[in-house]
Amino acid sequence: MSKISSPPRGRQQKQSATNKKLSKSSRAWVQRQLNDPYVAEAQKLGYRSRAAFKIIQLDEKCGLFRPGMTVVDLGAAPGGWSQIAAAKKCKVIAMDLLEIQPLSGVEFIQGDFSEEEVQKKLLEMIGGRKVDLVMSDIAPNTTGHHDTDHMRIMALAEEGFYFAQEVLAEGGAFVCKLFQGGASGDLLQPLKQSFAKVRHIKPPASRKDSSELYLVATGFRSGPI
Ligand SMILES: C[S@@+](CC[C@H](N)C(=O)[O-])C[C@H]1O[C@@H](n2cnc3c(N)ncnc32)[C@H](O)[C@@H]1O
Repeated sequence: MSKISSPPRGRQQKQSATNKKLSKSSRAWVQRQLNDPYVAEAQKLGYRSRAAFKIIQLDEKCGLFRPGMTVVDLGAAPGGWSQIAAAKKCKVIAMDLLEIQPLSGVEFIQGDFSEEEVQKKLLEMIGGRKVDLVMSDIAPNTTGHHDTDHMRIMALAEEGFYFAQEVLAEGGAFVCKLFQGGASGDLLQPLKQSFAKVRHIKPPASRKDSSELYLVATGFRSGPI
């Protein structure tokens, strides 16, 4: 894979599970990272995130990428999913609240996807092209309050779905991160009307103790729902 950047320096420093300056939960996070084979493998292969393996596994299962496709990556930082899509010879348009280090084959816009103005800019960047895949790994910062966090991620998932409806080509696909429980079923009905096949998948790289899972909808049918 070409043009791989190393992880931010700040993160490389003092990544010790025994660093007393870190809080207990941060030390536990570092310990988990050190023991995680996907983290080690991502570093070895030059992937920007361990999350790269999730899209690789979803692609293996559902055949998402084909060379020449146009792909929109929502919540792209630090760039693992975009990196994989670009390596599969797709043209990628990515966005995130945070900046990402430039990646060959990836156009990037920084902003909050929940803001209308940002979505407008993203549409301008897409420039009237039809898109083959919209993928969203957006995860808003958690508040610690389960219901609030769940509602926030569901709101962003819905926004992602409406956006996908606007830009997808016939037969296109939509991939979206969700968290199990609560309102995640509400999105299912409209999705089933817009796509030939809708699947919930937890790729092996998704941590077992996380309620995260991915919704993979393929075979987009345009028209009102
Ligand atoms: C799990 S990370 C994505 C990892 C990425 N798929 C990768 O492989 O590198 C989730 C991202 O969602 C972004 N995010 C959260 N809320 C957002 C929003 N409202 N608009 C845009 N990005 C958002 C975060 O900044 C974060 O970078």
